[in-house]
Amino acid sequence: MKNSKKSSVRPGSLGILLLAAGKGTRMRSETPKVLHSLGGRPMIYYLLRLANALKPNGIGIVLGHEFDTVKKAIQAGVKEWGISKPITFIHQKEQKGSGSAVLESMSFLKKHQTAIVTCGDSPLLTFDTLFALLGGHRSEKHQVSLLTARFRDPKGYGRIIRSPMGEVLKIIEESHCTPKEAAINEINSGTYCFEVSLLVDAIKKLVPKGSNKEFYLTDCLEHIRSEGGRVTGFPSPSPEEALGVNTRIQLAQAERVLNRRALERLMLSGVSVLDPNTTYIDVDVEVAQDTVIHPGTILRGKTKIGKSCVIGPYSIIVDSQIGNECSVINSWMEGAKLHEKSEVGPWARLRPGTIAGPRVRIGNFSEVKNTRIGYGSKVPHLSYVGDADIAEDVNVGAGTITCNYDGHKKNKTVIAAKAFIGSNVNLVAPVKIGRGATIAAGSTITENVPDGNIAFARERQVNKERK
Ligand code: UD1
Ligand code: CA
Repeated sequence: MKNSKKSSVRPGSLGILLLAAGKGTRMRSETPKVLHSLGGRPMIYYLLRLANALKPNGIGIVLGHEFDTVKKAIQAGVKEWGISKPITFIHQKEQKGSGSAVLESMSFLKKHQTAIVTCGDSPLLTFDTLFALLGGHRSEKHQVSLLTARFRDPKGYGRIIRSPMGEVLKIIEESHCTPKEAAINEINSGTYCFEVSLLVDAIKKLVPKGSNKEFYLTDCLEHIRSEGGRVTGFPSPSPEEALGVNTRIQLAQAERVLNRRALERLMLSGVSVLDPNTTYIDVDVEVAQDTVIHPGTILRGKTKIGKSCVIGPYSIIVDSQIGNECSVINSWMEGAKLHEKSEVGPWARLRPGTIAGPRVRIGNFSEVKNTRIGYGSKVPHLSYVGDADIAEDVNVGAGTITCNYDGHKKNKTVIAAKAFIGSNVNLVAPVKIGRGATIAAGSTITENVPDGNIAFARERQVNKERK
């Protein structure tokens, strides 16, 4: 009897194997393919998140090209990405094809009864589709379930050959297709559910093929069939999910789809997006109800935006937090935090470490960095404020500069509540402006100003009669 060895497999155990060892030659890049950025995350993030969501007993990932770089990037990301399931890294030293990648993974696969095998370059696969594929596989007791798709242009993919009864007979890679086979528009998505016991035997029968002498995982299906196994093919309800990213053109297509999905998610949750065609939103960006996003806006990274805000037109917001009822118009924010009812822009730049509000106003060519700006304070025109602590109800006049850098280090400016800084003032840090103090316009302040004082630090005006 075959496979008489006592099995240590827990019945029903599910393993998910991600194939990601390929060099990604067609990307023409120094960066390993699965680390290319999509929707603000590396491509492999989408597969790991999806695998994790299916609650498998284990996730295996086959890496090869730049093994250490990719492994480190994944290990550094898993916590933030919310990947809780254990990951087994498998090193495929020679990239001899998807079949050899699976062969190298046998000790991982053999721990499980059922395995989902999918490709690291399929970032558009969704939970619903994979869940349905696995559900059907289990409830119908299939031996191999294959996710297929119907493409208007099947170029570059393996073609599905079915029997007249609809059973999948085999997959033929494009380079081996006859013209008639090449015209078949049902393609292999590269995602499969296998009963592992069948895969174990079939994988050993692969022979190298093509000019690169590669072992094709797809050839396993024929071997499984020749042993009496059945292969069931499920066309994906949404063919775009089967996109494989081999080139930068496909990378851009994937980016577009992910952006559309992010926009749809926000719109369905009550956010208005006036022009989805010119609005770019990363996958994990959060925006609350009744916020309106105007054209030309880009929201990146871990950005979170509250309720009833007005964002854009033409704002770029990266890794920032914005409270309720704020507006950010035609401005750039990065690593900044804005409390509620604050107004930014047009034409402001908030750099990392800016924490402002509530009810502040920063606009018209002002730049703020590593600075706290308290309740109701204003930096409305043409200012540079860096490494400062500005308390409540302060007015920073047009053209004010904090001279924070002495050529060696950054120094701090502290402005207490209700101070009034006149226009075109230089605050040479380190310096403190007292509560309620006034600084005369045009002053260059080099010494602390006590509470309630008015400071003049400029030449007295001289008027002379002309001779
Ligand atoms: C593969 C399928 C094709 C399918 C398409 C879907 C094979 C032989 N062909 O073609 O039928 O239509 O995906 O996108 O499987 N990999 C390794 N080790 C290797 C080689 C590849 O881990 O030695 C990984 C790659 O990183 C990739 C996946 O396997 O994630 C598929 O390899 P790729 O070269 O992209 O195959 P395709 O030509 O796209
Ligand atoms: Ca591919």
